[in-house]
Amino acid sequence: MYHYTQGRPTRQGHKGIPEGQFEEEQGLDGFYGPVSHLIKDRPSTRWNSIEGNLKPRMFDLVKHIAADLASNVDGGLQGQRLFYNNDITVSSLWIQPGVPNDQLESRRNADGDWMYFCHKGGGQVLSEYGVLDVTPGTYLVMPKCIGHTFFVKEPTQFLLIENRTSHFREPDRGIVGRHAPWDPNALVKPDLAGLYDLIRRENINVRTVRIKHTDELTTIRYDECVYDVRGWKGDLYPYTLHMDHIMPIVSHRVHLPPSVHTTFAARGFVVCSFLPRPLEEDADALKVPFYHQNIDYDEILFYHDGDFFSRNNLHAGMMSFHPAGFPHGPHPQALEKVKTKTRTDEKAVMIDTRWPLKRDEALARFEVANYWKSWMTK
Ligand SMILES: [Fe+2]
Repeated sequence: MYHYTQGRPTRQGHKGIPEGQFEEEQGLDGFYGPVSHLIKDRPSTRWNSIEGNLKPRMFDLVKHIAADLASNVDGGLQGQRLFYNNDITVSSLWIQPGVPNDQLESRRNADGDWMYFCHKGGGQVLSEYGVLDVTPGTYLVMPKCIGHTFFVKEPTQFLLIENRTSHFREPDRGIVGRHAPWDPNALVKPDLAGLYDLIRRENINVRTVRIKHTDELTTIRYDECVYDVRGWKGDLYPYTLHMDHIMPIVSHRVHLPPSVHTTFAARGFVVCSFLPRPLEEDADALKVPFYHQNIDYDEILFYHDGDFFSRNNLHAGMMSFHPAGFPHGPHPQALEKVKTKTRTDEKAVMIDTRWPLKRDEALARFEVANYWKSWMTK
């Protein structure tokens, strides 16, 4: 459809919105497709009641504690499932220290790639390709069927993203070139010599392999350690990317859509990283996320670290769910708070899915009651 205007629109999206009015973006294809900006007297988040299941929701994953039995390996390797559809499973997984070094196991996913995002703790992950370090803020991409073993000295919590119908790929970089928002050289490759140094130093012996296939577990046992590769070549291997090595794309003049923060892409969903950045400098530029309907996508946002000024009562470890079909945007208090801010200081992971997400019934344990009311001023 051709670009068209009615009434008195703004010249530039997210900028020059008349005092006392609000802009709402309605867009298809997750910020890539046809889009319109509507100038309104009041935001669409001014509801006074919502009846039915389609609501924005908030969950506190701090309540998913390290001691939670549902998170143990025998819970199915994925910990506590949170959201899922045909393309993706999103879980909270705790890996516990204290397993004797000669009793450690290898874990393998025959249902898809895993992406682990380390929220707390950290350690090392062993695989046949070598060893990788994992610290808070690390994305670890573990391709389908590659066995791996976590070696942690403290309880370690991951946001675990299972890619069931494709493989993770880099985002479309388009006009920003090949080295933004992250340089391919920022990917950390596994260290094979380091693997054997660690195994020798810690007397590690891994003889049990647990495989998830069609969401059921199979266990294979060996007499010898399964890590015995002496060399490898190829372009299939696990790797890490740390959030601190992502260079956010910004404009000093106008708020850019969340799609510029895409870190990895997959069939049916994208993973984005929101990172500390300066706010827009132009006096008439919108400095908080615009009100919007991301019409084709469900949105999950996991708050990892920092100061989340855009919402009240928000702390690290919380997760919001803004399903498609729902207008959302900043809370009224964020519009006030931003006036004194020159930069954001928050680190968050966003997962946008093309097809609707189902909520695991266990999520009810973590739900913050009446989140949808948080936009209401009375
Ligand atoms: Fe959104």
